[in-house]
Amino acid sequence: MAGNRKRIEADTVISEAKELLTLSAKNGSGELGLIRTGTVAGKNGNIVAVGESSLLDNEILLSKKGKWIDAKGKLVMPGFVDCHTHALFAGSREKEFSMRLRGASYMEIREKGYGIRESVRQFKNASDNEIRTSTLKRLERMLIHGTTSVEIKSGYGLSFDDELRALRLIREVGELSIITVVATFLGAHDVPQDFEGRTGSYVELITQDLIPEVAKRGLAQFCDVFCEEGVFSVDESRTVLLEGIRHNLKPKLHADEFSDSGGALLAAEVSAVSADHLMCTGRAGMEKLLSAGVIPVLLPACSFSLGKGKYANGREMADIGLPVALATDLNPGSSMCESMQMVISLACVGVGLTPEEAIVGATRNAGHAAGLGREVGTLEPGKKFDCIILDVPSFEYIPYHFGGNHVIHTIKDGKVVASYGRLEKGEGAHEKAR
Ligand code: NIG
Ligand code: FE
Repeated sequence: MAGNRKRIEADTVISEAKELLTLSAKNGSGELGLIRTGTVAGKNGNIVAVGESSLLDNEILLSKKGKWIDAKGKLVMPGFVDCHTHALFAGSREKEFSMRLRGASYMEIREKGYGIRESVRQFKNASDNEIRTSTLKRLERMLIHGTTSVEIKSGYGLSFDDELRALRLIREVGELSIITVVATFLGAHDVPQDFEGRTGSYVELITQDLIPEVAKRGLAQFCDVFCEEGVFSVDESRTVLLEGIRHNLKPKLHADEFSDSGGALLAAEVSAVSADHLMCTGRAGMEKLLSAGVIPVLLPACSFSLGKGKYANGREMADIGLPVALATDLNPGSSMCESMQMVISLACVGVGLTPEEAIVGATRNAGHAAGLGREVGTLEPGKKFDCIILDVPSFEYIPYHFGGNHVIHTIKDGKVVASYGRLEKGEGAHEKAR
């Protein structure tokens, strides 16, 4: 017993986890900060204590209405941070998936007028309510699969009004949902149909009209560009990112997805928070990212869905010391996937990461890539009490047994919000929007 010592007041306690992954370098052994038979305690939505159950449990004073969760035999870790998504969209594009299976490439489909432009048409034709409802449904599936924070990009509006509409809807779903939402302005996701052959004029619309308005209304934290041969060149991308920086929008970049076209180098040049995709980035680009402190965000579910077996060389990135982060890239064209567990499996098999590296990539490193590194991504006192309880015997089991859902409880801000594949009753802020 604690005797006269002051006890730790808590309103939620998860105790006796077989493996508690704190992800804090200070705790336990290795990168995962693994504690065997561990406890995490929280109060008012924040973590107050983490440690071995045998040492900590007797120190805790649980509040009257507090909740004590027995996690015997289970694994407890931080909620996933999905740091790159296009989760706000209307409709779907399964026909393009079939076209790819018959041999067409993503870029060939785009050249035929489908691809992102198809989603732009579907977005224009959908009501605010339809878009909110389908997006909230996706966020609900994310929560159920263990994601507690998500970055969402605009980019299916591609006009002054519709890009602002997209960002407004992202803000609204963020307010309605339990998940923490971070917004990114991706007006430069593609060149809209009516600007065909006039990319420069569209870049002007973005830099002169959209970026100042997005910044004035406080609608986004980041600015991103699809930098790729035939979409936005390195020079056009630079123009957009620098204007974003002038307006306090931190740079991110879709870089080197289909060719090693200088995207990683540009991300390093502008000190981007992250460079994403990087399927074709070579050693020179990797080293630039390292020296500029840019986080590589790898999206192996996109590689999987594109079906060419082309994954980023995350093994080499990790070997040179880059803090590799992972995300779903959830979007209707190249990655219709809400599950970070699936991404972890693909990161091991396709990208060559170890289970430890993949788990760090889906939590701590992803938290930094989403600009949330101080609040989430690890289980440490002072951080948000966002964590998940998985029915697995060890952390290695997560990538090994793939395609399903191991999460039995999702805890967000210290509250159990999803259990056994369903949102808890009363946690459906989503209900309001239906
Ligand atoms: O990150 N590559 C560009 N953007 C998305 C795909 C968007 C879409 O096809 O709708 C991506 O994969
Ligand atoms: Fe993307």
